[in-house]
Amino acid sequence: MPRHFLRDDHLTPAEQREVLELALAIKADPFGWQPLAGPRAVAILLDKPTLRTQVSFAAGVAELGGFPMSVDGNLARIGVRESIADTARVLGRQVAAIVWRTYDQARIVEMADVAGVPVVNALTDQFHPCQVLADLQTLAEHCGGLTATGPALAGRSLAFVGDGASNMAHSYLVGGATAGLDVRIGAPRAFWPDEAVVARAEEIAAATGARVLVTDSATEAVDGVTAVATDTWVSMGREAEAAEREAPFVPYRLDADLLGEAAPGAVVLHCLPAYRGKEISAEVLDGPAAVVWDEAENRKHAQKALLTWLLERA
Ligand code: NVA
Repeated sequence: MPRHFLRDDHLTPAEQREVLELALAIKADPFGWQPLAGPRAVAILLDKPTLRTQVSFAAGVAELGGFPMSVDGNLARIGVRESIADTARVLGRQVAAIVWRTYDQARIVEMADVAGVPVVNALTDQFHPCQVLADLQTLAEHCGGLTATGPALAGRSLAFVGDGASNMAHSYLVGGATAGLDVRIGAPRAFWPDEAVVARAEEIAAATGARVLVTDSATEAVDGVTAVATDTWVSMGREAEAAEREAPFVPYRLDADLLGEAAPGAVVLHCLPAYRGKEISAEVLDGPAAVVWDEAENRKHAQKALLTWLLERA
């Protein structure tokens, strides 16, 4: 059975570290790994809007020696025109791996159950694990890298402020706990994370030494942290709720005052696209603490490492 990466805990702490170390090595030697030489194809299925995901997977697959085949979900209409299982059976005969951005997590689980090749979550409603891999790489770089003597991440702290029920908050909880981080979510109570996700993060934290905190106080979340992250208040698929998703989040806006509660030298993460003046002030996003362009670049390196690691085990 191939390995898949459908949620952040599909890599153990040791495996996550291997992938992050490989990401740093690949960044230093971009054409040194050619697991898709042939070229073998990777299907990149996109049911939701995208920029970074499509470009970083396409460029990354090409750099790994492969052929990136982007498939517009509006044309494929997976699960409508053809069942997910039948789609998986067809794709599994054609490509070396499947990357899918879609809606409910259950869709990608069904794809992985049948495909017979590695399946990678490129964002679902519940998780965005590739983004958090890139974020962990970015954080490691800013904390001195991942070295043979020990991970740079364990014991560091990361606060996410905003929509605590979002895919990004969930992936920070589970991926951050896997990395041994002190992970804090600052969100309005009506937008707290899924309880099962928090419980899973706490379970992982008990083994890794990580800590997990969910609070409705933005300042408590950010107090003294190494990194502060935020994301849009209106995730893809929730556009109809845009008006009601404004007022509850205003106290969680990442502005200079809130960033001032973090540790000196703290970095700011944002998966992008960012809405200046909404979840983050222009001053912070365009200021010296923001490492968002490194983060966007690291999507490619982290995903190349992930694909290489998965293909070695397929
Ligand atoms: N939470 C956002 C992430 C975008 C990359 C969304 O799902 O739209």
